[in-house]
Amino acid sequence: MDWTLAARAEKMNPSVIREILKVTEKPGIISFAGGLPSPKTFPVAEFRVACEQVLRDDGPASLQYAASEGYGPLREMVAAGLPWKVDASQVLITTGSQQGLDLLAKVLIDSGSRILVETPTYLGALQAFAPMEPKTVSVQSDDEGVDVADMAAKIGQGSDKARFLYLLPNFQNPTGRTMTEARRAAVSARAAELGLPLAEDNPYGDLWFDAPPPAPLTARNPGGCVYLGSFSKVLAPGLRLGFMIAPAPLMPKLLQAKQAADLHSPSFNQRMVARVMQDGFLDRHVPTIRALYKQQRDAMLAALKREMPEGVRWNQPDGGMFLWARLPAGLDAVALLPQAVERNVAFVPGAAFYADGAQANTMRLSFVTASVEQIDIGIAALAQTIREAMERQPKSARERAAVEG
Ligand SMILES: Cc1ncc(COP(=O)(O)O)c(C=O)c1O
Repeated sequence: MDWTLAARAEKMNPSVIREILKVTEKPGIISFAGGLPSPKTFPVAEFRVACEQVLRDDGPASLQYAASEGYGPLREMVAAGLPWKVDASQVLITTGSQQGLDLLAKVLIDSGSRILVETPTYLGALQAFAPMEPKTVSVQSDDEGVDVADMAAKIGQGSDKARFLYLLPNFQNPTGRTMTEARRAAVSARAAELGLPLAEDNPYGDLWFDAPPPAPLTARNPGGCVYLGSFSKVLAPGLRLGFMIAPAPLMPKLLQAKQAADLHSPSFNQRMVARVMQDGFLDRHVPTIRALYKQQRDAMLAALKREMPEGVRWNQPDGGMFLWARLPAGLDAVALLPQAVERNVAFVPGAAFYADGAQANTMRLSFVTASVEQIDIGIAALAQTIREAMERQPKSARERAAVEG
């Protein structure tokens, strides 16, 4: 048979992360690579009870087709839980926030449309946007988030004006960084002035360690933003449930895209989540996730400090699941990975997260899936791998790296 692939299918790439995860399935490997929440945090007992209750009280409806917008009581709970005034009619329940990214792309991107992203950004978003064939432009970013002047410089004009800027203000995937209050205010004000829509993705915002992050950008200008949320990191990713809050003019189109994609998100799962969440369960549960992840982050920071050779740098995320490390200039994290896997430790090379201009000497380390004991062993093995790679570098490169810091 003569299968002719669509041009968009040609543009789909295997996720580098999934490919890496395959490598990390090697028995005994300590993986800092996956973006998997700790299974210790999954409320299995609560779901067992909820499952029983849903089937007992609401069995046929929970197994029937349902409205594309989502289960009414769950939409109301989502609206009530957000820190700005949201009506339940603005909430679209999605099959994970990943589907929200896909719907956004279908509704807002034409072939060749300019879209703006952070540097670096969430690989899964780049993948969700790619089939719509955008012109993806990276906005320069620092530890506080996107650079406002560069955002304005890259917005484009007329038919080339950016359709939206995709932002991850809280404990970003991949870097773990958080946008400061001042930067949020500046980005929000300038974007409103320029008429630039924002797509704010916030799956990690509840996972803060010492203090909650500043208010979402959407809270400052709900008419100019689409907001994406998820139950994956506060309940369980296998439920595949997330949500989108969109301004009224976009809602009918997002709903039509949702209908075409999967009619609706699973009725049964939505009812179970609503059951589990009633009586304020998340207020009791989420602090336990925060405490666990904070302990894990501290273990990784301590191990990095103890083990890493001079010249390796990393940040200290205030929440979420990831930290970002920078190797001395000249070292390539992609080339380092097989050597690390030989030593039974894995990470994601940072290059995967850049829309363009990848920085090869960066890596993402997840601190939530491995235990504290594994973190100690894994970071020591990673440090040894890096040390050996540095020793193999020609002396001139090492001296240059030392100067560049
Ligand atoms: C930034 C970001 N957005 C969206 C998602 C997708 O999450 P889900 O579809 O499980 O809600 C992830 C998953 O890791 C993520 O890191």
